Order: sequence, then C-alpha cells, then structure tokens
Amino acid sequence: MHKQYLMAPGPTPVPEAARLAMARQLIHHRGDGFREVMAKVRADLKWLFETDAEVLMLTSSGTGAFQAAITNFSSQGDTLVAIGGGKFGARWGDIGRAFSMNVVDVEVPWGEAVSPATLRDVLQQNPDTAMVTLTASETSTGVYHPVEELAKVVREHSEALFAVDGITAVGVHEMPMDRWELDILVSGSQKAFGIPPGLGFVAASERAWKVAEKSDHPRYYFDLRREQQRQKDDQTAFTPAISVVLAAREVLQMMRDEGREALLERHRINAEATRAGMAAMGLQLLASCPANSVTAARVPEQLSAPEVVRRMRQEHGITIAGGQAHLRESLIRIGHIGFFEASDIRMVLGALEAVLQELGLDIEVGAGMAAAQEVFLRR
Ligand SMILES: Cc1ncc(COP(=O)(O)O)c(C=O)c1O
Repeated sequence: MHKQYLMAPGPTPVPEAARLAMARQLIHHRGDGFREVMAKVRADLKWLFETDAEVLMLTSSGTGAFQAAITNFSSQGDTLVAIGGGKFGARWGDIGRAFSMNVVDVEVPWGEAVSPATLRDVLQQNPDTAMVTLTASETSTGVYHPVEELAKVVREHSEALFAVDGITAVGVHEMPMDRWELDILVSGSQKAFGIPPGLGFVAASERAWKVAEKSDHPRYYFDLRREQQRQKDDQTAFTPAISVVLAAREVLQMMRDEGREALLERHRINAEATRAGMAAMGLQLLASCPANSVTAARVPEQLSAPEVVRRMRQEHGITIAGGQAHLRESLIRIGHIGFFEASDIRMVLGALEAVLQELGLDIEVGAGMAAAQEVFLRR
C-alpha cells in the first residue's frame, strides 16, 4: 500500500476545502448562487493578479488562455517576438505560427534566463513588433526570467504588447500586473491554485483591449470581448466548469487568509530547501536563475532519469516529473508549486535519497535532508 503524493509541477494536490466544494451537488450557472460565487472569485483573482483589469476565466487548460491571448490581442501577419528557453516559451511561437503571425523566435539555452540586453537587440532589429511573449517561470527547465526588467525593455524599445505566461508564476513569484505594466497575464487552475485542470485565466491591459477591437483573427469560443462583457455581469458566455469555479473560490480564500507575502515566502523557502537538498545529494541543478515553482536537476550520467521517476512513483507513491525533449533521459523535476509545506519537501527528499542509493549512487545518508533542514531552521 502506498499513499499517493503529487509533486510534479502540475497538476498539484487539491486542498480538502476545494475537494469538498466539488463533492456537493452541482448548482446551475445561471442562478443567483453562481453569480455570488463569480463575484467573489472575480474580486479575488484581481487581488492575486494585482490588477484592476478583469481576470477572465475560460473553461480550458492554460494553453487555451494562451491561444485566446494571441487571437484577441494581435492580428494575422503581425510580428510576434517569442522568447524561448524551454517548451512553454516555444509554445507561444507555435500558436503564433498557427494563426499566421510572423514569428521571431528568440533562442535561449535551456537552463538560462533571457537577458534584457538580448531582448532589446531583438526589438531594435524588429521595430514593427506587435507582441512580445514570455513564459515567466519555464516549467520545463525550472528557470525564472526577469519579468520586471523585460517589461521595461518592451516599454522602452517598442510599441509592442507584453504577454506573460504566468501559469507557474502567479501565486508563486511576485507578479503585479498593473505595477509592472504587463499587458497580458495568463494562468491555469492546476498549478498554484491547487485545483483540478479546467480553468485558464487571462487578464489584459487597456492598451491590449484597444488592439482587440482591430484584431482580424477568427474568434468564437475564445472571443474575449464577449467573455469580458458577460463576466463583468458575474456570468460567463458559455457553460463554465462550474465545479472548478466552486473550488477556485475556496483556494483563493485560502490564499487571501495566508496573505500574499506569506504565500510567496512559503514558495521561496520550499524551493530553496528543495534546491539545497538536491544539490547536497550530488545532483546538478539546471537553472541558472531558478523559479520557485519547480526544481530541475540532472541525474549523474550513469543513471536514467525516467527510472528515478518510475521508482519514486512505484516504491514511494510520489509522482515527480522527468525531463522534456532533449532532457528526457537526464532530468528530474520536483514540483513545489501550490499548497506544500516543509514536511512535503522533507518527504520527497527522503524518498529521492532512498531511490538514488538503491540505484548505486554513493551519497552520504541524510545529506539532502540536512541541507533542506538548515534552510527551514534558518527561517
Ligand atoms: C509554464 C507553463 N505554460 C503553459 C502550460 C500549459 O498549460 P496546459 O497544459 O494547462 O495547457 C504549462 C503546463 O504545464 C506550464 O507549466
């Protein structure tokens, strides 16, 4: 018998209050009860995104919210500068190409953050850029990009809209949409929110809404103008994922009760302890500028990362993630985004040490745990 633990960078474990909210009989989305829920969730999402803009809820995964951002806030043939550096950064460019945009891919080595100077040079070479896209916390590599600095570069060196994938950054890193002048900020329910997949979130600045009026992309389900009108009235344009919205109300309240500072600090400490623990076991951390949502580390050459992931699940009931694309065989990723505590980090590090020992790695017993413990105690 094994208890099951999710420690991948999404989907993440669902707190009890949210599970119970979803277990109750369904309510109708055109009734007053749902309107009340919508009003509360809308207000709390604005609080979390730190914006006066409407944070629209779409019944889709996060990628649907990406697509909505592209098809509403740009036009066919527009130049899209897509900052790479991982699987999700590249996805913005893929969507742009699918919708006939002129995509300029900014190549960034996996594991590194893009430098503001690189973005400045690309914008100077492409003065007609209409949109710059970035994945704030690149889940495939565990890198955090310097969002605030990059936003300034976009403002100073172009007229472009700045669209940020905050799917594993909102609720983890500081991401004040209005203060940093982000034009578009996207997130998804199965990450820091700790609720099931099914909701994509997208908020847009006034500048972006002006562009939406002129956009010539075909739009129907993801026509955000209609969605904005309906959601301002505590409704949705189409049938929403009602149960997931009910769960969202619970977890947003939990976040508000914890407080923004404490929420971000908890993620920071858990991430620091995970990094310290993995490094102390002799694993090489991938990210030069690490995100607080997920820690990615290379396993030593003689080991296979998929085997480590398999043993973690089969022998300890813990789901962590492997590497993606060319890092499939060599990388493991531990997710600590969402409602995790120090005890969860201790547990995953303890199990990882056992697996690495079994696979023949010569590591000092308790080294990873001791390093993590020091981080927690220093606090
Ligand atoms: C940073 C980031 N962006 C985008 C996505 C894609 O989201 P979804 O799978 O919900 O479409 C993910 C999912 O892992 C992600 O981590």
